[in-house]
Amino acid sequence: MNLRALSKIASNCIQCPLHESRTNVVFGEGRIDADIMLIGEAPGKNEDETGKPFVGMSGKLLSEIISEAGLKRSDIYITSIVKCRPENNRNPRKLEYSKCINLYLSNQIELINPDVIGLLGNSAVYALIGKKNIKQIHGETYELNGRKYMALFHPAAALYSRALLPQLKKDMIKLSNAI
Ligand code: URA
Repeated sequence: MNLRALSKIASNCIQCPLHESRTNVVFGEGRIDADIMLIGEAPGKNEDETGKPFVGMSGKLLSEIISEAGLKRSDIYITSIVKCRPENNRNPRKLEYSKCINLYLSNQIELINPDVIGLLGNSAVYALIGKKNIKQIHGETYELNGRKYMALFHPAAALYSRALLPQLKKDMIKLSNAI
């Protein structure tokens, strides 16, 4: 199975209730051999409309932070723990993200085989490494099942609370140095 085949399967996915309200599946984008993978929470309105991850306001901020850290967005593989937009941007439910991770994200991680995975926001952090308090653990690396993870604030959180922005920028630089 390669990423293209997996993406094709995902595009017709009806394995959880999120398929009912989506317009497009947002599988992910970036280099298939990326050294860095970034994983967010869920597509929002703009992502649902375009089928691309992080293209709305938080996506624009994310692009800025990535380039300020000396990285190229197109060199990174970017996706989320669920590939379909939850209605009214509610948090994805455990059954939804567990299924989506098992079916798609875990395979994406194996196929891309990044050096380090940046988890953007509490939902991704909890779903992938089971930790709850991003305020305490952001910027630290965690090894789990042979993979290296780092928690970073979600860019949407930095838009909402500007005080988080400098820390998010610092953590992105740390992430770039963790490869
Ligand atoms: N927020 C996410 O977590 N993922 C997206 O794709 C867009 C916004």
